[in-house]
Amino acid sequence: MIFMDVEVKNIHKRFGPVHANNDISVTFKGGNIVGILGENGAGKSTLMKILSGFQPADSGEIWIDGRPVDYHGPRAAIAHGVGMLQQDPLDVPAFTVLENFIYGAPGGMNLNRPQAQRQLSEVSQRFGFDLDPETPINRLSIAQRQQLEIVRLLALGVKLLILDEPTTGISAEQKNVLFEALRNLAKNDGLSVLLVSHKLEDVIALCDEVVVLRAGKLVGTKQLPATTDELVTLMFGEELAPHQPEDIEFGDTVLKLDRVHLASKRLSITDLSLEVRAGEVIGLAGLDGSGQRLMMRACVGLEKCVAGDVFINGQRMTGQAYRSFMQHGVSFGAAGRLEEGLIAGLTLTEHIALVSERGMVIDWARARQHTETQIKLYDVRGHADNMIEQLSGGNQQRVLMALLPENPVVLVLEQPTRGLDVDSARWIWQQLLKRRADGTAIIFSSAELDEIVTYSDRILVFYAGQIYEIRDPDAVSIDELGRLIGGDFQSSDHVERLA
Ligand SMILES: Nc1ncnc2c1ncn2[C@@H]1O[C@H](COP(=O)(O)OP(=O)(O)OP(=O)(O)O)[C@@H](O)[C@H]1O
Ligand SMILES: [Mg+2]
Repeated sequence: MIFMDVEVKNIHKRFGPVHANNDISVTFKGGNIVGILGENGAGKSTLMKILSGFQPADSGEIWIDGRPVDYHGPRAAIAHGVGMLQQDPLDVPAFTVLENFIYGAPGGMNLNRPQAQRQLSEVSQRFGFDLDPETPINRLSIAQRQQLEIVRLLALGVKLLILDEPTTGISAEQKNVLFEALRNLAKNDGLSVLLVSHKLEDVIALCDEVVVLRAGKLVGTKQLPATTDELVTLMFGEELAPHQPEDIEFGDTVLKLDRVHLASKRLSITDLSLEVRAGEVIGLAGLDGSGQRLMMRACVGLEKCVAGDVFINGQRMTGQAYRSFMQHGVSFGAAGRLEEGLIAGLTLTEHIALVSERGMVIDWARARQHTETQIKLYDVRGHADNMIEQLSGGNQQRVLMALLPENPVVLVLEQPTRGLDVDSARWIWQQLLKRRADGTAIIFSSAELDEIVTYSDRILVFYAGQIYEIRDPDAVSIDELGRLIGGDFQSSDHVERLA
């Protein structure tokens, strides 16, 4: 087995006033799986992009196997054995899986079709990957794209594989496949893996050690095993107090779905009736694409009902547009950050102006002042003049929250804490629970089952368009909820069929 040691020495990277990487030195030993931890904006992605050639450091060195290397660009990094999994892999949708595998790295591979096909299916089989060579790339799921990227990087001889928040948007099952492959690669092939993640359970399950960044600096390393609390203390310098649920009295029904039928290309929901009361928090659990998205969009007027009615505060809203739902106090936070909620190329001030300035003429001074206030309030690490894409992933999510109106009647949120560090996620929930105490009803989806169990007054479990209700979330364990979202409803007496 050939191991490759990679060392970064005194790495500095500034973005204007932000010192994103401040004198970072650390060694990654061959064959290890290392978790890269740190609060939002700590500098994790910056360091990973420098290591994988996607951006240059201002100063500092990278050493491989005891020798300094100097590479520019991801292709050069791959030639040195360092590869990073892209969140949005190569955009060549006309290609099939096989073609992407062959041509994905120009000059990197000299394979004919049958050879490539054999290699692709060998690796796929070895890891239980679900890759059909003839499928066009644009029809792959996020998990399959990842698998293809891994296979491609391995074929190019990568010995250090970097994954930046790879479990966002993939199912628990797909995550198990991914983690098993990574363990296998580290153990049997001596591959090193760097995993950037906010999901501490994932890090504990997979990694041999962790490296912790805070405000651009390396603040510690630790061998695992460790507990979640220990990692949290390393990251934030203190343990976080557990969430204390607060009992509140619900008000009147604010949202009512009456025998609603919904249909998308892939699935349909039939005969859904639901009443949500002021102050209630409803958590939607389920694998991606099980119908949560469809229902949430119907609640805010972005999806037309095939049949049935939607009422807000007793007012029939069926068939009306999102804008009209908004005027009745409904607000929607989409998960897609840069795809849906935020607009690349616009500054923070411009985003705020878009939602807060109602007149024909935008008062930029006022918008800017409002932006400064929101930045402070939501503790966004960024400036009013930053383009949204210049912020770290977690800070983009904070901006998304800052754009929500103050006192909505119903707040519908897709994955409100996606990509947030543990502390920020709790902070966001504090804000949300304050609004709920003021009578806002909250409907949210999440891939984190513990988040759903912790914060929901009621849970709706989605499975292939079927909906089951859990009236007493305290009665279900995370394991049971995990089985439920996999469609195993027989063995549970905590659920009732809703639709
Ligand atoms: N292209 C850029 N232009 C300006 N600032 C940037 C740019 N890239 C990163 N930054 C800033 O550098 C800091 C570190 O960002 P980075 O993306 O490395 O954080 P992170 O640890 O990955 O955070 P998260 O967990 O939220 O993804 C942040 O303050 C961010 O706003
Ligand atoms: Mg990041």
